[in-house]
Amino acid sequence: MNLTSTSTVGTVAAEHPATIRVFQAHGIDFCCGGGKTLSEVSAAHGIGLEAFLSEISAAATATKSAEPVFTKAPITELIPHILARYHSSLWKELPRLGGMADRVLAAHGERHPESVPEMHRLFCALRADLEPHLAEEEDVIFPALIALEMRQASGRPAGGAPPAVSAEAGIALLEQQHETVGELLRSLRRVTGGYTAPEDACNTFRGLMHGLAELETEVHEHVHLENNVLFPAVAKLRTPAALPAV
Ligand SMILES: [Fe+2]
Ligand SMILES: [Fe+2]
Repeated sequence: MNLTSTSTVGTVAAEHPATIRVFQAHGIDFCCGGGKTLSEVSAAHGIGLEAFLSEISAAATATKSAEPVFTKAPITELIPHILARYHSSLWKELPRLGGMADRVLAAHGERHPESVPEMHRLFCALRADLEPHLAEEEDVIFPALIALEMRQASGRPAGGAPPAVSAEAGIALLEQQHETVGELLRSLRRVTGGYTAPEDACNTFRGLMHGLAELETEVHEHVHLENNVLFPAVAKLRTPAALPAV
């Protein structure tokens, strides 16, 4: 693989999804913070650069990731994958975890005032941000991106009503929302001590910590595919980008 200290985390993760587990193991942000170079993140995390590059190289070449590589796939393939793999499970998981968080607040909030109420507040904020974000992508932005690619592929001349907002502006908005979600996840991890249930926790509490840890992994992979694979693919489309109002 073509790997150097100036390769960015996002590009390496997009081209070699098997390397994502290395970034996760070191607690390195590969989705919203994917623009940093391998040299920068190794310094920030106190990892020797040579050893880090070898570890990434080994992960990329030793095993084939279960995740397909989408860097060369058309948008018309990538978007249905994102929806089927990540959006549909989030629509089920967010209400399930929400119900558990409510029960944990009622049962453990008073005994753990230092963490449980804040955990509940952060989860509610995360859900309140994520659900409209998913709906906006599904109903407005993703169909517009697919239409853009299909129009370019067919050679159809641009026409019709002028766009209310450019693809760049729509994508910038989604990236900003991804940042907010990433920040909420960081706070959730902090307040739960890395998703650890206290000694006296009931099974609902334990299940909630497990579910939140899984949610974090899924959202990181999901946002990575959008930020580091889908949006760069849109930027490569030659047609002047146009999106409906968002
Ligand atoms: Fe999404
Ligand atoms: Fe998104």
